[in-house]
Amino acid sequence: MTKKAKNRVVIFDTTLRDGEQCPGASMGMREKLEVARQLARLKVDIIEAGFPVASPGDFEAVHAVAEQIKGPIIAGLARCLEKDIVRAAEAVAPAGERGRIHVFLATSAIHRQYKLRKAKEEIIKQAVAGVEMAKRYVSDVQFSPEDASRTEPEFLADVCRAVIDAGATTVNIPDTVGYAVPEQFGALIGYLHEHVAGIDQVTVHVHCHNDLGLAVANSLAAVKNGARGIECTLNGLGERAGNCSLEEAVMAMRTRKDFYNLTTGIKTQEIFRASRLVSQLTGMLVQRNKAIVGANAFAHESGIHQDGTLKERSTYEIMKPEDVGISGTELVLGKHSGRHAFANHLHKLGFRLSDAEMAQAFEAFIELADKKKSIYDDDLVAIVQQQMTEPPPVYTLDYLHVSTGSDTVPTATVRLKRNDEVMQDAACGDGPVDAALKTIDRICELQGRLEDFSLQAITKGKDALGEVSLRVTFGDKIINGKASSTDIVEAAARAYLNCVNRHIVDQQAGDETPKKTKKKSKRVKTPQP
Ligand code: KIV
Ligand code: ZN
Repeated sequence: MTKKAKNRVVIFDTTLRDGEQCPGASMGMREKLEVARQLARLKVDIIEAGFPVASPGDFEAVHAVAEQIKGPIIAGLARCLEKDIVRAAEAVAPAGERGRIHVFLATSAIHRQYKLRKAKEEIIKQAVAGVEMAKRYVSDVQFSPEDASRTEPEFLADVCRAVIDAGATTVNIPDTVGYAVPEQFGALIGYLHEHVAGIDQVTVHVHCHNDLGLAVANSLAAVKNGARGIECTLNGLGERAGNCSLEEAVMAMRTRKDFYNLTTGIKTQEIFRASRLVSQLTGMLVQRNKAIVGANAFAHESGIHQDGTLKERSTYEIMKPEDVGISGTELVLGKHSGRHAFANHLHKLGFRLSDAEMAQAFEAFIELADKKKSIYDDDLVAIVQQQMTEPPPVYTLDYLHVSTGSDTVPTATVRLKRNDEVMQDAACGDGPVDAALKTIDRICELQGRLEDFSLQAITKGKDALGEVSLRVTFGDKIINGKASSTDIVEAAARAYLNCVNRHIVDQQAGDETPKKTKKKSKRVKTPQP
């Protein structure tokens, strides 16, 4: 690893590992690669791509990221066990010198007594053995004493000293259960800097969970006290209440450079796009008032604030939306904008599309422009991201008609295409969305269970694109899907079809298949209750 400047904070992104452990946020290989590509555009220093020993899917994903993503260091997680370390080494091998093994072992009294049933000396021995073993495969080895914030500081210092002596190049201090508070956590990092010989030779990271809503505050307290790496996830995704949010930590250091005097390598203009992509792929919506990337983060509602910002932006704005890649709600293109203007605009927004992708995006734009008078940057981002993240279209929606009303039984007629085959069916439901999804199930001979449904407007106005996010289970497998349209029933049908397509593609790729849910049903042209 190249030596970094003293005031440079390394950004270690664990969206694909800890983030993905968030219930319902799991991603397939395609999605993980898409996120990894965006993380590289965002210029994170390290991508923790997964926990290779956890499953064949995890292994393949880490291996593919190591093979295909250029730029950042690619890390694979491992317990201090031979089988984990060997698997992690194989998975990160394609990254060559950029491959890192991240070994961890719990150190707190609670974990030692109840989980590991090991004495302090045994913990040190296993941690050292883990680091030494990982060193046989890669030169870049990170060690994490799990539950560090609840570990006796003297013992934690002993562990850190031992793993540094064994060759660890990064020592990460996790607040595994989100128990720490900023003053205490900052002091712990300061204590380790004073009491661990050789700590200046390694990079000290922190990895904070958000159970008390303090993950970002704790990470900032840590860098104020000498840590030079923050482990974080996009949108703060992660186990339970999540991890430290990348966008918040990075923008806090950037906006308050006067206080921290620290820099990162992050290309902040890519933040918004990265946040939307993760939300799109995991189906985890970003709350409207979320700092930095929420829909309201830069919206000034009160008259006094609006008046102030119009007179001088800095009266109420501490960051510019452009700095995080939010281009505002400027009207950008209309129905008569040509292909060239469209391509130029996408280029300005940072998209690099192939000719075929551009042609497809232009088609979607024209279709939208027919329905919607004003097209904003956010609409364009939604169109392109949807297209880029959509699974290969096994089934495509050819026609949708719903009839609904207060005195009508909601009924949907759906026509789908699969290669050259056209299939049509109809069904009734509790409402138009239910009817449309049931019809899709009938045609595809599947039975998805809708676990979560949310709807958000992408821009303002009655003609705004409505974005539907769904979580669907097929057997025991959870799949997320998103789609947008000016018609919310159509958005729901398309989002559901995304889930169906993803499920079929996963099955074809030989993923764990859920139990088959339904016998082949005869297709009918008349509505069925
Ligand atoms: O929260 C935690 O302790 C972890 C470790 C594996 C770093 O995720
Ligand atoms: Zn964690």
